[in-house]
Amino acid sequence: MKKYKNPKPERLTDESVFFARRRFVKSLGLGIAGSVGVVAAGRHWLKTPLNLRPKIKTFAESKVFANGGRRLTDQEDFLRFNNFYEFAQDKTSVIRKSKDFQIDPYSLVIDGLVDQPIKIDIEDIERKSLEERIYRFRCVETWAMTVPWIGVPLNELLKMVRIQPNARYVEMISFSDQTQAPRQGTSAYPWPYTEGLTIEEAMNPLSFVAIGAYGRYLHPQNGAPLRIVLPWKYGFKGPKSVVRITLTASRPRTFWNEIQPSEYGFFGNVDPDVPHPRWSQRNETLLGTWGKQQKTQKYNGYGEWVADLYYGTEV
Ligand code: MTE
Repeated sequence: MKKYKNPKPERLTDESVFFARRRFVKSLGLGIAGSVGVVAAGRHWLKTPLNLRPKIKTFAESKVFANGGRRLTDQEDFLRFNNFYEFAQDKTSVIRKSKDFQIDPYSLVIDGLVDQPIKIDIEDIERKSLEERIYRFRCVETWAMTVPWIGVPLNELLKMVRIQPNARYVEMISFSDQTQAPRQGTSAYPWPYTEGLTIEEAMNPLSFVAIGAYGRYLHPQNGAPLRIVLPWKYGFKGPKSVVRITLTASRPRTFWNEIQPSEYGFFGNVDPDVPHPRWSQRNETLLGTWGKQQKTQKYNGYGEWVADLYYGTEV
């Protein structure tokens, strides 16, 4: 089994800061939530078996996104190093704590300001002909990876519902189930994990709905059975285990933005020139290459696809 060095990425927010701030805020009578942290890795994860999920039988390699421009991240790194706050605050115990997680029966609802709301399952998505896309991925904490996702463009699903003209945003909501994810019982976070996009961002050809990666169905720790992947944005903008997508007229509340608006903007576009208040965003470290850094690119290098979404906008 692969040996890991305990990685030292930046942290979303330290838990002690969060609780201190929460007490302070409470004393002011404001009651807003604060934040999180990475606890040192235990030893258990070394023993957690990978429990590989079945292979996806039919999918086509994308012609446009067949190459991430750098080496693929090892599948084992992808499976063992995760952010999934419903299960853990640290990265390396998510694989163990989420191993039995299952949304069963699973369906994805797309509703809100649409003429034809739908409820679909993974088989409905598979019937749409799956594509494998290799995307670069950049977490706001400065770690990065390169992943072969399998899925369909988000706009294919949105075209099914006939969006009404007054819809301006897409709200994406992760699962809610305290019996499987007891951390959702804490009021420290604004559960369920929710993210949002403008309609134009959601319809952009890069926005992707993944049901698999590395040729296999998604594993629980990576957001099974379905997650959103937005390669030009920081990873927190892509919710895992999504059960509902709602079209709205006003900007939806989003998880990290609600916790810490000064640190996590609504747009969350990758930008080396805009530092996080607690660290620089100029460089990043690819999973599996701890100690080495490389330069971060604006929009994670996907500017030709998305820059025109933001001309003249402060993001
Ligand atoms: N989605 C949910 N529901 N819960 C989460 O905690 N974390 C986000 C994103 N989606 C998160 C989530 C963050 S901060 C990152 S970097 C990525 O998932 C991590 O994805 P990975 O564990 O597959 O690398």
